[in-house]
Amino acid sequence: MEIKVTKSGQSCGVEISNIDLTKDLNEVHVKQLRELWLEHHVLSFSNQILNDDDLERFTLYFGSFGNDPFIASIPGRENIIAVKRKADEKVPIFADNWHTDWSFQKNPPAGTCLFGKIIPSEGGDTLFANQHLALERMPSELRNKLEGKKAIHSAVVPYSPGGGYGDKDREMGRSMDIRASDDAFAQQLHPIIRQHPETNKEGIYGTVGYIIGIDGMDNQEAMKLLMELSSWQCKDEFVYRHKWKKDMLIMWDNRSVLHRATGGYEGQERLLHRTTIAAYGL
Ligand code: SIN
Repeated sequence: MEIKVTKSGQSCGVEISNIDLTKDLNEVHVKQLRELWLEHHVLSFSNQILNDDDLERFTLYFGSFGNDPFIASIPGRENIIAVKRKADEKVPIFADNWHTDWSFQKNPPAGTCLFGKIIPSEGGDTLFANQHLALERMPSELRNKLEGKKAIHSAVVPYSPGGGYGDKDREMGRSMDIRASDDAFAQQLHPIIRQHPETNKEGIYGTVGYIIGIDGMDNQEAMKLLMELSSWQCKDEFVYRHKWKKDMLIMWDNRSVLHRATGGYEGQERLLHRTTIAAYGL
């Protein structure tokens, strides 16, 4: 069976149809999906009635499971977390800031799979910003300032006990089982401009938030540069807006896109199951 590929017409993202993800995939399909993922960065699959076994099996076609710190896995599934929000929840929307998953790790996940179980009738879109395109179109003046620099990544801002998802947030009744801890103070360096480990294509890796500074640069100067970078790398022309449906699976490439959640579904529940794909070769 030939899979069908429909481009989003935006900065990245394709919809894949004519494939049943509840069944084992053959090598040809897995190879083809991997190529499409590397080329288009975000793949979506509609009308897939997946259970957690299917989600895990699909993830493992693309690598081993990543290690998810700070968010407890769902009961009985070590490698699945729930991204959820109750209808009456009042805490800020989870992940409503541009980021690439767990970039504060030494070997951050290559990709993320997210499956829609309960999807509100409006709002809750996920946005993606293509970081190859953002680099390609970057003015040389900005690029020159970033070339050769390493960013300091850390989870301190969201996941330390005093951070955004820390003790206060938990007391306010967030339904997601987030476990803030002092582990969030650890730091990791990654080049700001770097080659994609599979395609060798250059892109921007990460953004302010998980990035808290630039190695060897005065903090004030670094934050100024990071803010300049952030307003460039998330411009509308680089963004793909993903609209969800129930029983839709998406997978994205953390090495080439930033992403963020959005709100706009007050009074409605939202639930998705998420896995991460470990760094290439791990
Ligand atoms: C995430 O960053 O994994 C969550 C995205 C979303 O809730 O749309």
